[in-house]
Amino acid sequence: MTAQELYIKLKNIRVGGQVCQYSLKKCEELVPVVNEILRLKKEKNAVILAHSYVTPEIVYGVADFVGDSYKLSCDVLNTSADVIVFVAVRFMGETAKILNPGKQVIVPARDPGCTLADSITAEDVRRLRQQFPDHAFICYVNTSVDVKAECDVCVTSANVYAIVERLPNDKIYFLPDKFMGLNLVNEMKRRKSSKQVRFWSGSCYVHEEYTEEQVFKIRLEYPDAKIVSHPECNAQVVANSDFVGGTEQMLDYMRKSPAKQFLMLTECGLSSRLQAEFPDKDLVGSCTLCKYMKSNLLEDVLQALKAPRQGQIVTIEEPARLKALKSLQAMFQYAQGAKTGVVQPLCE
Ligand code: 13P
Ligand code: SF4
Repeated sequence: MTAQELYIKLKNIRVGGQVCQYSLKKCEELVPVVNEILRLKKEKNAVILAHSYVTPEIVYGVADFVGDSYKLSCDVLNTSADVIVFVAVRFMGETAKILNPGKQVIVPARDPGCTLADSITAEDVRRLRQQFPDHAFICYVNTSVDVKAECDVCVTSANVYAIVERLPNDKIYFLPDKFMGLNLVNEMKRRKSSKQVRFWSGSCYVHEEYTEEQVFKIRLEYPDAKIVSHPECNAQVVANSDFVGGTEQMLDYMRKSPAKQFLMLTECGLSSRLQAEFPDKDLVGSCTLCKYMKSNLLEDVLQALKAPRQGQIVTIEEPARLKALKSLQAMFQYAQGAKTGVVQPLCE
């Protein structure tokens, strides 16, 4: 790849602060690292997955697959690579490892945490299960492998409403996001579903920043703008949005919408993708950054491909992996609308 080619992909990005702004000079500095990663990727038969929230030079310079957690879980099911470099946070790398126990999975991030995944432990879930023995336990994908292992079905932001609606159980315990939990309660009411949903108290520190006042202000200033939010935002923000969905669904909504202006209520990485891929669409308002996702630097991807540090390699004990796998397989099954039959993890 040449610096000019990289610059053409990145030049329209204006959100995400200084780190996410690109000149030709900056691309000239980045491109030797990009090319070394591309060379090593071939040599090691590695594949690079990048969540939409990571820095644009990774998304447009080296990634083979880019998307949300559901899409990336599907992409990783079909790979013949020996090494999976998951440029995201730890729980996403763990999901890839649960699905691909024979492959080496590496998460290059310096700080691969997530305030949602870190808000609940397996011990908490075991205690809740004793307290609510007649509830089905549904975990958001933003949870550790040990938490997934204690739950019945995993969901992502792309399928949470559809899966909960399809479950045979009426009593649901959803964890760990309190905002998504309340959004789920409201959505079940809207769909006239009889589900009773309890939820845990976690939150995403990036999405909880958005307020209904911000939404009202944008509506006044830009009456034609479409307001698009992630279900990790609070219920008032969601109620006042034109569209709510996982990051890939948000992108798809923009892609198909004839509107010209958008307020994207999620991490800045998605807005960067919008500016890079749809330069004729206009972003209004501001966005927030996830320090965990942004702690994946291009040089870390190179270092991790060359010689991963112990903390970057995802390892999972087999008994926990097998239990967590069941909740992921249940997700794939329900996501495709199948209530019974052989679990066949095929993605749409
Ligand atoms: P998506 O599955 O929508 O990409 O969400 C993951 C996430 O961490 C959102 O903050
Ligand atoms: Fe976790 Fe929020 Fe960062 Fe997503 S944006 S990885 S939910 S802290």
